[in-house]
Amino acid sequence: MSSTHIIPLDRLTTAMHRVVRGFGSHESEVRAVAGNLIEANLTGHDSHGIGMLPRYTEAFLEGGLVPNTHVRTVLDAGALLRLDGQAGFGQVVGQEAMSMGIERASQHGSCIVALGNAHHIGRIGAWAEQAAQAGLISIHLVNVVARNVVAPFGGGDARFGTNPVCIGVPLAGQPPVILDFATSMIAQGKTRVAHNKGEPVAPGCLIDDQGRDTQDPRYSVVPPWGALLTFGAHKGYGLAVMCELLGGALAGGHTQRNADASKRRVLNGMFSVLLDPAALGDTGAFEQEAQAFIDWVKASPPRDGVESVLVAGEPERASRARRTMEGIPVDGTTWQEILDAAAKLGVDPGAVNADAGLV
Ligand SMILES: NC(=O)c1ccc[n+]([C@@H]2O[C@H](COP(=O)([O-])OP(=O)(O)OC[C@H]3O[C@@H](n4cnc5c(N)ncnc54)[C@H](O)[C@@H]3O)[C@@H](O)[C@H]2O)c1
Repeated sequence: MSSTHIIPLDRLTTAMHRVVRGFGSHESEVRAVAGNLIEANLTGHDSHGIGMLPRYTEAFLEGGLVPNTHVRTVLDAGALLRLDGQAGFGQVVGQEAMSMGIERASQHGSCIVALGNAHHIGRIGAWAEQAAQAGLISIHLVNVVARNVVAPFGGGDARFGTNPVCIGVPLAGQPPVILDFATSMIAQGKTRVAHNKGEPVAPGCLIDDQGRDTQDPRYSVVPPWGALLTFGAHKGYGLAVMCELLGGALAGGHTQRNADASKRRVLNGMFSVLLDPAALGDTGAFEQEAQAFIDWVKASPPRDGVESVLVAGEPERASRARRTMEGIPVDGTTWQEILDAAAKLGVDPGAVNADAGLV
């Protein structure tokens, strides 16, 4: 097992800015990409943090990720937008798509945004948080066009991606409720993190290349490939299919079915519904009732071994507060992979280490 570095937020930010500049990105893109990835680490989702940079580097060098690219409007029908991410950084085109949708939802009361061909848009919760900051409820169904990693319920091989679902609800004077998860038992990146740390994954998450249960993360990281299982058996599987139908076939125009597994790029299609609660009626009554319900469920007596009942979004906020204070843990293998990626981008790994305070 490799040692873990604890890197202060400001130092990690400087180091990751240096790495992302290696893509030839404009300064605003450097800040957007590094900021979004570090934010994923801050919220505790290392699977969608800076450890994605080596993958992005391979995708870029293959021509599957195009820096300094912006969304193209394919259809503009007011409260209905169809956008093409043109394989640009998801951190940029995702943000642009949400900004356009937010503006339209504020104008019309609601907006549906169909975003296709975005390179990896990272932690979907970031987009629900962007909408929530503007006072909007949002629902996101996302497909992943890359290597197959998740098996259908009852199936013995991988047929689609970890297709995330996310719902965000803003509440005045309170932090928003942000539900954001992969429809696989665990996010694929979590198997990479476990593999890099030399740790097993929990039982019931993974099958090997023969369709047998395994806890060895290698079956999701290096060939021969096994498959992740969906959460909640046929229920998570059903949601994953809906992500393909709406985020893929409808929003993106293509599903995981025809992905070229040899490519390192990760394309996301996202079907988003943005809604201004004020446009639907009495916001005060909605927020009062919603807050009362949250108080009600949180008052449930915690079971043995549980500190307190939480609602979605709370674990991420707690992690953000802790890691902002204490620094961000990055395991040694992941850090070395980032340094290797930096070198491939023509960035001096020694300088990245120095930025991070690791020399
Ligand atoms: N872009 C992509 O292609 C892609 C693909 C898959 C996943 N992802 C992202 O990966 C990230 C991780 O997904 P995951 O499935 O590993 O997440 P997860 O299993 O950690 O679940 C996270 C969700 O559960 C909530 N939660 C966690 N513990 C809780 C508790 N005790 N009580 C109440 N709620 C609780 C969190 O607030 C959050 O909403 C997500 O941000 C997702 O968007 C992205």
